Amino acid sequence: MYLPTMIPLAALLSTTLTAATATSSSSPVVLSDSEPKYLNLTAISAAHGSSTLECWQFGPFSSSSTPGTTGALNLVLGDMSNASYSVIPPRFDGGLHNAPAPQLVFFNTGLIHITLPNSTDEAWVQGGKYGLIIAADTADKSTHGHRTQYPSDADTIALQVPLKAGERFDYTLLHQGACGMEDMTGL
Ligand SMILES: *[C@@H]1O[C@H](CO)[C@@H](O)[C@H](O)[C@H]1NC(C)=O
Ligand SMILES: *[C@@H]1O[C@H](CO)[C@@H](O)[C@H](O)[C@H]1NC(C)=O
Ligand SMILES: *[C@@H]1O[C@H](CO)[C@@H](O)[C@H](O)[C@H]1NC(C)=O
Repeated sequence: MYLPTMIPLAALLSTTLTAATATSSSSPVVLSDSEPKYLNLTAISAAHGSSTLECWQFGPFSSSSTPGTTGALNLVLGDMSNASYSVIPPRFDGGLHNAPAPQLVFFNTGLIHITLPNSTDEAWVQGGKYGLIIAADTADKSTHGHRTQYPSDADTIALQVPLKAGERFDYTLLHQGACGMEDMTGL
């Protein structure tokens, strides 16, 4: 039922992504002291008992000193626990639910549509480079949670990585609403 909106969006995304890839392959991203780099992630948050969509900013990146990635852009996202790997079937409807714990959710493939029960705000997430989001609308913060649907014909792979108990994400609010492509393609 979402196909009419989905196809132009997917076409738009792939055009943008192709352009971004072409640019980055000719000029590799390096860390320069004069220009700090930030990661912006769509977050399912909550306010006044209802889930919300926000764009959260993490960073700045530093230069990795870990063997294997020395010199690469590096960002610590938090102290995590109990990761799980899910394979979600095509055209699946996850229904209304709360995040079980504040967590990172990395979609490495698939198309994900997130909606809120009492709001017109929505987020489309395409698996891959820009497939990392945060789900933090736990039941103590949001009465009804959010709805997640997977309208594509392919499986969706999700890696869910909850924060360790008592930990919090260290972010600043970039803006209300999901991050747009312009918030994510700067690296
Ligand atoms: C890890 O998550 C699973 C599924 O949510 C849960 O059953 C289990 O108790 C958790 N384990 C720990 C150590 O938190
Ligand atoms: C919000 O959405 C839920 C679930 O669809 C519904 O039960 C509730 O009445 C709605 N309104 C408010 C104000 O929460
Ligand atoms: C995150 O947002 C900032 C501020 O709008 C922007 O300068 C930066 O390029 C964005 N980061 C990415 C990875 O796009």
